[in-house]
Amino acid sequence: MAGRRSIVLLNEENSARAAMLHAACFDVGSEWSARSMRETLKAQTTLALGLEDGDRLTGLLLIQRVPPDAEILTICVHPGRRRSGAAQQLFDHAVTLLGPYGIDRLMLDVAGDNLAAISFYERNGFGRDGVRKNYYRREGGGAVDAVLMSRPLAGHTHKSGA
Ligand SMILES: CC(C)(COP(=O)(O)OP(=O)(O)OC[C@H]1O[C@@H](n2cnc3c(N)ncnc32)[C@H](O)[C@@H]1OP(=O)(O)O)[C@@H](O)C(=O)NCCC(=O)NCCS
Repeated sequence: MAGRRSIVLLNEENSARAAMLHAACFDVGSEWSARSMRETLKAQTTLALGLEDGDRLTGLLLIQRVPPDAEILTICVHPGRRRSGAAQQLFDHAVTLLGPYGIDRLMLDVAGDNLAAISFYERNGFGRDGVRKNYYRREGGGAVDAVLMSRPLAGHTHKSGA
């Protein structure tokens, strides 16, 4: 059963549970090691937000700040907690925290077959800038394009009722 939902800042002490959540959210082969999660959470340039249901980590958003840009490294929500506004809550909170850092633009890349994520990003004002052909390798030998997306940071509110 879901407990009280709250957003928390994560640091390297949270790397094991962040890596576990990430692994539960992505296909085998796309997960991050505990080590790369720790390095990312340790970096001064990372904004790392977690969503907790009670004391359980159920959402994660990692953004790397390189002013004037910032890159979404990952956003993920536990499969049992999706479509309840968790990613939206994390994203909205991150936008408010990025305000003082002189960030003009948010960027990301996403697998072209990840329709849930593309839909989430489009709803939040991201447009498509281009494609990197066959960028993501899949288990079993296939490859899928990366879609490059970005949006200005200031002055955007997400589309309601999308
Ligand atoms: C993409 C992801 C983070 C969305 O998380 P979520 O908490 O379920 O998203 P929210 O509930 O906040 O959804 C907000 C809006 O995004 C869009 N959206 C989210 N999931 C969607 C889906 N499966 N299909 C279509 N639209 C979707 C909808 O517009 C949704 O609003 P609505 O529910 O009112 O229609 C989640 O599906 C996930 O963790 N996927 C696996 C990890 C991943 O691929 N991450 C992105 C690449 S780094």
